Amino acid sequence: MTGSQLYEAMKNISPAAVVQPYTTQTCERLVPLINRINELKKEKNAVVLAHYYVSPEIVAGVADYVGDSYKLALDARQVEADTIVFAAVRFMGETAKILNPTKTVLVPGHDSGCSLAEAIDAQTVRKLRVQYPEHTFVCYINTTAGVKADCDVCVTSSNVYDIIERLPSDKIFFLPDLLMGQNIIREMTRRGIHKSIELYDGNCYVHKEYDGALIDAVRMSHQIVGEDVTVIAHPECRPEVVAKSDFTGSTSQMTAFLESSPVRNVMLLTECGLNAGMQARFPERRFIGSCNMCRYMKSNTLSSILQALENPAPAMHVDIEEAVRSGAERCISAMFRYAAKR
Ligand code: 13P
Ligand code: SF4
Repeated sequence: MTGSQLYEAMKNISPAAVVQPYTTQTCERLVPLINRINELKKEKNAVVLAHYYVSPEIVAGVADYVGDSYKLALDARQVEADTIVFAAVRFMGETAKILNPTKTVLVPGHDSGCSLAEAIDAQTVRKLRVQYPEHTFVCYINTTAGVKADCDVCVTSSNVYDIIERLPSDKIFFLPDLLMGQNIIREMTRRGIHKSIELYDGNCYVHKEYDGALIDAVRMSHQIVGEDVTVIAHPECRPEVVAKSDFTGSTSQMTAFLESSPVRNVMLLTECGLNAGMQARFPERRFIGSCNMCRYMKSNTLSSILQALENPAPAMHVDIEEAVRSGAERCISAMFRYAAKR
């Protein structure tokens, strides 16, 4: 890749959506790192999986697989390389390791947590199971391997509503995302499904910041000048935000919605990485308002990916005790089964 190729791919991204604006000079400086990483991937038989929220130069320059957490879990399941470098957050790297116990899995971000994954631990799940013995425990994929090992099935934002509907149990404990849980209850009511759903009180610190009043203000100011705004939100947003949105879905589903709908004015209520990616792909559209950044996703850089390939720090390795891994694999396999059911 050359500096001018990278600049061409990045030049329509607003500086408000990235940690570092793309100029011809910054692109020239990033390219040697990109080319070195791509050489090392071949030498070490490694692949890079990247979530949409990481910086665009990672997605455009070094990622072999890009997607939402469900697609990346499917990708991780069929990767043949010896080493997986997961440019995202630790729970996604853990999912890759759970599915590939013999491969080396590396998470390059120096701060690869997630406010949801940190909201609950396995011990708390075990106590809740004693309190709610008749409930099916459904965890969001944004949880640790230990939490998954103590739950019955996990879900992602792309399949959460369908899996909850398909589960035979009418007593569900969903954890840890309270806002997504409230969205589940709303969607089950809309579908005419009657289940008793208990919730935990975690949240995503990035998505909880969006509110309905902002949507009203943006829509109203566009109406004055005779224009519409299409609002697209992630299901980790507040129910009032989801209720006011035209479309809700996972990051891949939001991408597919934009690919298939030629909407001009878009308010994309999710992490900035997806906004940046969509600005690059659809320069003729207007992405309105500011987005929020996830500091965990943004702790992945080209330098940290290079380090993961050259000489990974011990903290970059994902290792999971076998008893926990096999329990978590059962929980993730249940997700694959229920997601495939029609
Ligand atoms: P997706 O599965 O929709 O990509 O969501 C992952 C995530 O962490 C959202 O904050
Ligand atoms: Fe976790 Fe929110 Fe960051 Fe997604 S955006 S990784 S849910 S903190």
